[in-house]
Amino acid sequence: MSVFLCCRTPAFAFLFVAAGHVAAGCVPDPIPPFEPPSDTGLKSLARARGLTIGSQFNPADLAADSSLEGLLLHEVDLVIPGNDFKMRLIHPQKDTFHFDTTDGVLDWAEEHDLEVHGHTLMWDKSLPAWVEDGSWTREQLIEVLENHISTVVGRYRGRVAAWDVVNEAFCDPAVERDCIVESGESGGMDPSIWRTVIGPDAIELALRAARAADPDAKLYINDNGYELPDTAKALKLYSYVEDLVARGVPLDGVGIQMHWALDEILSASQRAEGKQAVATLFQKLNDLGLEVRITELDVRLPQDRCASEDFLAGQADAFALALEVCLEAASCPSFNMWGLTDRYSWIPDAKPGYDCATPFDEEYVAKPAYFALSDTLQAE
Ligand code: G3I
Repeated sequence: MSVFLCCRTPAFAFLFVAAGHVAAGCVPDPIPPFEPPSDTGLKSLARARGLTIGSQFNPADLAADSSLEGLLLHEVDLVIPGNDFKMRLIHPQKDTFHFDTTDGVLDWAEEHDLEVHGHTLMWDKSLPAWVEDGSWTREQLIEVLENHISTVVGRYRGRVAAWDVVNEAFCDPAVERDCIVESGESGGMDPSIWRTVIGPDAIELALRAARAADPDAKLYINDNGYELPDTAKALKLYSYVEDLVARGVPLDGVGIQMHWALDEILSASQRAEGKQAVATLFQKLNDLGLEVRITELDVRLPQDRCASEDFLAGQADAFALALEVCLEAASCPSFNMWGLTDRYSWIPDAKPGYDCATPFDEEYVAKPAYFALSDTLQAE
């Protein structure tokens, strides 16, 4: 007998017992109102510091929940549709593109004066079956890649401010078994279909196609888990982008995702040491002439610590620390979180045992992390 609860709030889940079976059911959680925790949302404080502040969201959630819209409009001036620009959704068949959702996002964002960050054009996940299961020569796959990028970026030319052209292309062989490592290097490249069929220049081809389709959009390489500059992955990413810059390949910046687990940075001293390391990484990348933006920050807690004052304080400290690194960097124009409310977080599904990784709980109540961000933006 298995029981599935489809509501995040157990109080609203109920079991339906019929004909000797226990089936699953739930009534939808009532949507709590969003009551702004402060008159001044984070976005106006951030603007005063020359920073855009943003959040990921899912358009389907927005359509069903006016509190989510209230939260986003009060707090951020940039939005990132979490999945809808991904190839599986926007380009499901070779000759079919689905633009309805992203068109709607752009219209809504423009109506409310929000910037849109496009995520993402070249990734080895969320691929449509026709790409993943196809049998490709290098030339054929280059044509697929360039056609995908020129169609999507070209459609939103002048409207999407920045693109994660490439997502999660680098790796550490100690962490990922199939990481492709060149001789003499310690870090490597993810064995994506793009890397294995096209080769290491797939990234360059993607960047050039994006620049040709929208000369004014900021072009980014986005990755995760390279906060510490001396690690294999960070060294590989650094040497790769250094070479792109040296050869004049169009690249404006590097995105660092920052999906953190608080139990890995639990003590204040660990966090302070971490801050130094992350600041060093930002400086190295800025010194190449690249912007760095924080693209997907969240700080997950063990599920059974979501109400712990100590853990919530540590989480607040971690959010503030990331923001401080960005504010103190020579060029970190944008600070973005992967969701603002735990109501719609990816964490419980993808990281079993963890939850509550965002600054607002699932009832839209601001946590200490929210006030830490607000204080940091107002600090001298
Ligand atoms: O919409 C379908 C639904 O119709 C279906 O019933 C259900 C069954 O599994 O799946 C739903 O789609 C899921 C989608 O999220 C929307 O919830 C996909 O299976 C699931 O794979 C997808 O996960 C997303 C994941 O990227 C993979 O694309 C997460 O929402 C999204 O938060 C996550 O975001 C990534 C960034 O792109 C890159 N960095 C890491 C970050 C977190 O993993």
